[in-house]
Amino acid sequence: MTRWGVEEGDHEGAFEVLKGWMDAMPTGIEGRRQMPNFGLNDDEYRALADFLLWTDTIRTQDWPPNDAG
Ligand code: HEM
Repeated sequence: MTRWGVEEGDHEGAFEVLKGWMDAMPTGIEGRRQMPNFGLNDDEYRALADFLLWTDTIRTQDWPPNDAG
């Protein structure tokens, strides 16, 4: 979430960015690793986005060392 520029507490932004990515999978781009499409509905995207926002608040002793991970 940090890497993607989603601010803490921005539930709508987290939902939009996660759904946008996951709905676009798999890309089918030759030679690129593929992520499956899990066929989630909006409630599931919201729950997952909220979970990832929460994990982003965990104090990890500054790991990873940069936002790109
Ligand atoms: C709920 C489960 C998952 C979520 C929320 C998720 C989310 C994501 C996100 C946000 C990215 C982009 C990361 C970035 O910015 O670099 C990503 C990339 C990727 N994921 Fe997943 N992922 C999940 C499960 C999986 C699984 C099970 C696989 C493989 C079986 C997978 C394979 C990949 C691959 C290959 C990429 C890189 C794709 C590319 O760069 O085009 N993901 N995933």
